Amino acid sequence: MVITGATSGIGRATARVLVRRGAHVVVVGRASGDPERVAEALGSESPSASASWAVADLSRMEEVRALAADLLRRFPRIQALVNNAGGIFFTRQETPEGIERTWALNVLSPFLLSNLLLPALVAGAPARVVNIGSEAHRTGKMRWEDLEGRGRYSGWRAYSQSKLALLLVTYELARRWAGTGVVVNAVHPGFVRSRFGHNNPGFKGGALRFAEGLFAISPDRAARAVAPMVNDPGWNGITGRYIRRHRVVGSSPTSMDPAAAEHLVQFLSRQAGLPISSPRPPSAPTRG
Ligand SMILES: NC(=O)c1ccc[n+]([C@@H]2O[C@H](COP(=O)([O-])OP(=O)(O)OC[C@H]3O[C@@H](n4cnc5c(N)ncnc54)[C@H](OP(=O)(O)O)[C@@H]3O)[C@@H](O)[C@H]2O)c1
Repeated sequence: MVITGATSGIGRATARVLVRRGAHVVVVGRASGDPERVAEALGSESPSASASWAVADLSRMEEVRALAADLLRRFPRIQALVNNAGGIFFTRQETPEGIERTWALNVLSPFLLSNLLLPALVAGAPARVVNIGSEAHRTGKMRWEDLEGRGRYSGWRAYSQSKLALLLVTYELARRWAGTGVVVNAVHPGFVRSRFGHNNPGFKGGALRFAEGLFAISPDRAARAVAPMVNDPGWNGITGRYIRRHRVVGSSPTSMDPAAAEHLVQFLSRQAGLPISSPRPPSAPTRG
């Protein structure tokens, strides 16, 4: 089971739950988060625990591609991919590849990684992709004319748009991958006391940390909401769903628009340099 952003917060806590349940977990993180050390710690959770690691800066598509190639070589069968790495950036930044950082990390990267790992997921089927979504998607709008906030940027707007886009991707991949044995769902982990937003200095970063201190739940509690989506038999065959507090809930009307989802997937495929496959006929998210 591959978990991105497993060096801290929700990803790390989820990795611990899954390792304790007997899964072999691959910790994906940036070198600065020391995924090797995290994997070693996970491997010592119990005598039967095992974990591996891989390094990638997932905001760089070149590194996402290298990561996928490395994982496909080492793990021809993958049972689960948790697209957890993500962040909020209160000032606009571009990656060295010229992509706005929120869009690159929260949307393009999970889209590209999921697609590149599909052969191993199909080989590992029944397999699951779990995208870490957010209730923030409800305030999100797809600014089709300026998805990367070149004209006008706000960190919150970029973040809520990114989580809305991730839901559109979740539903579209679920439709496209119906019948492959690979399901795709999104889960909201709750408001969690992690390092989320701590990369931002100044008032907004401080306000987020203050609110976390007052209202947020622990990463361990969040992991108890995420881990079942990864391997509880109760969720077998469920695809194209948004889950909050262990229940399927409706997401925003915008996120349910199949035409928008199709348009977005075509856009992301072009941006990521993936072949543009023909869509399945649009239909409501399904159980499949
Ligand atoms: N916290 C919340 O209240 C909340 C609520 C809803 C949804 N979420 C979502 O939950 C997910 C996990 O967030 P968290 O709260 O656990 O925050 P976190 O503690 O900051 O963890 C984020 C993880 O992503 C990794 N990451 C960040 N940038 C990366 C990059 N460029 N390449 C590779 N890995 C990178 C981080 O690794 P490094 O050690 O390298 O930084 C870290 O392991 C995110 O998608 C977030 O949007 C969080």
